[in-house]
Amino acid sequence: MQLEGRVAIVTGAGSGIGKAIALRFAREGARIVAADIAPDRAETVAGEIVAGGGEAVGLGADVGSPEDAARIVASAVERFGRVDILCNNAGIMDRMAPAAETPIDLWERVLRVNLTGPFLLCREALPLMLRQGGGVIINIASVGGLQGGRAGAAYTASKHGLIGLTKNIAFMYAPQRIRCNAICPGPVQTAIGLGGEPNAFGLSRMQLGATLMPRIAQPEEIAAVALFLASDEASFVNGAVVVADGGWTAY
Ligand SMILES: NC(=O)c1ccc[n+]([C@@H]2O[C@H](COP(=O)([O-])OP(=O)(O)OC[C@H]3O[C@@H](n4cnc5c(N)ncnc54)[C@H](O)[C@@H]3O)[C@@H](O)[C@H]2O)c1
Repeated sequence: MQLEGRVAIVTGAGSGIGKAIALRFAREGARIVAADIAPDRAETVAGEIVAGGGEAVGLGADVGSPEDAARIVASAVERFGRVDILCNNAGIMDRMAPAAETPIDLWERVLRVNLTGPFLLCREALPLMLRQGGGVIINIASVGGLQGGRAGAAYTASKHGLIGLTKNIAFMYAPQRIRCNAICPGPVQTAIGLGGEPNAFGLSRMQLGATLMPRIAQPEEIAAVALFLASDEASFVNGAVVVADGGWTAY
């Protein structure tokens, strides 16, 4: 078991990639704080881990709220005494809206969940990791964080920003044995959807490259990458952006 005794926070753990990561980390011996804006989903995943003989707590929390971010980290400390791994996975889509057709509330909502959320969680967890003498942060970005045509303006900007945050944290805290890496998945079979009625123009532009997608991944294939980054096997991997897209961006 690669994560025996570690304590891991996973946000957006109630569905899709986050759920697969929470379950995989638990199978590898980690104690899990499964946080999700949908409390019932978070508790279901935590219950599944406990039923399988693991340790987990399910928490309803909005990563975009500073108070909730603090509560997530405080709950990990209260229940398990420490935080070894923070996986910022919660994220939402932007209806593929291009900049000229992005209402300010859509922009702010997407940036808050996809970028401010990970920042808030990192800001809460880092002081703890510094006191503990190390830690691991994994940010779930997207190929939309590397390329310009994979989503709308807000999602694309948020995931590019998340990669910047990842590299900054990685460099700043490298001497303190904190590793921070990003995963950029291509399409994964989850419940994420487009975030509402798609913008027809944005969707048509995005679809130009969609025919090049080799296939759609299962969430467990992303969880396997997250496990590697969380484990000691990745001890010298810091500030990396790991693309897991089946070769889509290789074209
Ligand atoms: N599915 C894909 O094709 C794909 C591709 C690239 C990147 N990603 C990224 O992977 C991550 C997970 O996506 P998924 O496909 O598993 O989606 P999903 O919708 O299946 O799961 C996301 C979970 O996050 C939760 N969530 C949403 N807003 C939240 C908030 N403010 N606070 C806490 N929890 C919140 C949702 O309730 C949901 O349970 C996202 O960051 C997404 O951008 C997904």
